[in-house]
Amino acid sequence: MRDPSGNFSFLQRICSVVVLLCFVHISVTVLYYLRTLDLRSSFLQIQQINSPTQNVLKESAVTQANLERQPALATNVSREAEALKPCPDPSPLLVGPLRIEFSNPVSLDLVRSENPRLSSGGRYKPTDCIALQKVAMIIPFRNRDEHLKFWLYYLHPILQRQQLDYGVYVINQAGEERFNRAKLLNIGYTEALKEYDYECFVFSDVDLIPMDDRNTYKCYSQPRHLSVSMDKFGFKLPYNQYFGGVSSMSKQQFLKINGFPNDYWGWGGEDDDIFNRLSSRGMSISRPNGQIGKCRMIRHERDKQNEPNPQRFDRIAHTRETMNRDGINSLSYKVIKVEKDQLFTKITVDVGKPR
Ligand code: BGC
Repeated sequence: MRDPSGNFSFLQRICSVVVLLCFVHISVTVLYYLRTLDLRSSFLQIQQINSPTQNVLKESAVTQANLERQPALATNVSREAEALKPCPDPSPLLVGPLRIEFSNPVSLDLVRSENPRLSSGGRYKPTDCIALQKVAMIIPFRNRDEHLKFWLYYLHPILQRQQLDYGVYVINQAGEERFNRAKLLNIGYTEALKEYDYECFVFSDVDLIPMDDRNTYKCYSQPRHLSVSMDKFGFKLPYNQYFGGVSSMSKQQFLKINGFPNDYWGWGGEDDDIFNRLSSRGMSISRPNGQIGKCRMIRHERDKQNEPNPQRFDRIAHTRETMNRDGINSLSYKVIKVEKDQLFTKITVDVGKPR
């Protein structure tokens, strides 16, 4: 007779093997399913990265369930795609003519609170597109704090609407020697380049404010004169060769004329010398039209130690002979202090004395 308990343990073993096989089968199926899910999501990711232009279509086709499963992926990819786009030119944020007036004083705290997106040194760049140019704003300066406040108050919002990648450099002449505007501009050019790879330089007097934000503070294919219709001159150019007030030059244009003269002490003539340099190198001046180029000057008394320079007529007559030896290639100065504010970088310099 067969042993019935022997039959039972044989059956039990067969059942255990069947259960084990079922378990292995289910595990393999689950693993395989998870693996295909992974592959599907990486495929989607690669496709989105490779063809940003198709993102919009693809994103709209992605179901809500998919978006919920991969929220991080969807936002990262669309941000990356946006960051790649250059800002449109002209900027869509421009508003045109502006009301500019100086009757109510402004405080630096007010300007700081109205410009929260600036970073230390008066730096800004748009976050949702690539700025067309990296521009250093250079302001020659001495004892004009009230004017500087108005400049910062009006210009920061304008420059942000113009979607520039910019920084503001106030170049402060130390001591009591006669003012040397053009040398301060050379110093601003040099010091700004030590900080960032600027490709364009705007040289602005501290008391001039544009009356239209379509007057973009950037560089053009020719050196640009930006302050073309000043209230002080009845909203007209005082003469055709006038290049004073606010101008801009690319690095190449600036270097082509060996920068600016270092030897004009006191008021006047240095801007005419710069014009002579440009024309002697075959460049012409580009300008906005008289409407867009309107600007206001803050009225003030002439500063001490900025009397008209009696030597200016003689110097202007010899620009072609002097420009190769007097310029950015012969610039010497000492930095005394560098101060970083949210609204500007102020660099105090010793410019020396007239020879
Ligand atoms: C001076 C310039 C000045 C212009 C307008 C000229 O006589 O040489 O430096 O910008 O007048 O005031």
